[in-house]
Amino acid sequence: MKVIANLGRKGGSGKTMTSHLLAHGLSKGYGLPVNVVMTDVREDTPMNFHPDRSYFLSPITNKDIKSDLEALDRIFVQTQKIPDSVLIIDGGANRANVDRAFAQLADFIMIPVACGEEDVKVAEADFWGLLQCLKESNANGDVCVIRNRWPGSGRGHERLLNKAYIKNFLAKGERTGMFFPDFIPDMPSLLDMANSNDPKTTPLIDAVACRFAEVVARKVGIDLPPRQKLIHYPTASEIKAQKAARKAAGEQSTQAA
Ligand SMILES: Nc1ncnc2c1ncn2[C@@H]1O[C@H](COP(=O)(O)OP(=O)(O)OP(=O)(O)O)[C@@H](O)[C@H]1O
Ligand SMILES: [Mg+2]
Repeated sequence: MKVIANLGRKGGSGKTMTSHLLAHGLSKGYGLPVNVVMTDVREDTPMNFHPDRSYFLSPITNKDIKSDLEALDRIFVQTQKIPDSVLIIDGGANRANVDRAFAQLADFIMIPVACGEEDVKVAEADFWGLLQCLKESNANGDVCVIRNRWPGSGRGHERLLNKAYIKNFLAKGERTGMFFPDFIPDMPSLLDMANSNDPKTTPLIDAVACRFAEVVARKVGIDLPPRQKLIHYPTASEIKAQKAARKAAGEQSTQAA
């Protein structure tokens, strides 16, 4: 089993989205058994995350650190029994102590960061804090900052690169090896993944999820089996045939009545 944790104090940085994107890529794309531990369960959390998903969800209560860790320990032991499984921990905002405890269990920790000034400041501090914690506890995990929702190319990208705090952040990142090698694009359709009423995933989401899963797997040392045939999207002629079949069935039942 490998354990991957998405952590960081900044709210809305993309911890949950990154957890589900990775889980989707590893499970749907490569058939690995994946369990996402939701450690930040709130009333408004869509528990029915991605109805088309092929991974497990294990919510924990978020009551106090002791019972959270006990629950995580139980899930850890259960998931460990499943060969080649991956446990993904979805952290919560503003919980530095909990993050440190979770980090010690993880093989790989990702801190998602958006491109605002405050975002990069907090992510950098989290990176050093967690690195220090891993050192002090003799844990073997690796930690990195992953750029989420950064403009990947074009004018937005150019504008961003001209900002002093970004220049500074990127230079430090290059020097220290802080960054995950890949970006997660700003992609509103990723929101489909969190929409409990919409079982759709698009080929674009599948492609982004699989590519992301590949890069993470390489970093963490997960051997990926050959990629599975992804969800089948009906072609225009199949949709036409389905419609015709539905119409014919409707006409038959009207005649019978
Ligand atoms: N790459 C992205 N493209 C588009 N939308 C995104 C992306 N990443 C995150 N979002 C959206 O931004 C919002 C915040 O993301 P998310 O819930 O994953 O953050 P979080 O770090 O888990 O927040 P919290 O700290 O509150 O748990 C969500 O609506 C999410 O769908
Ligand atoms: Mg979250």
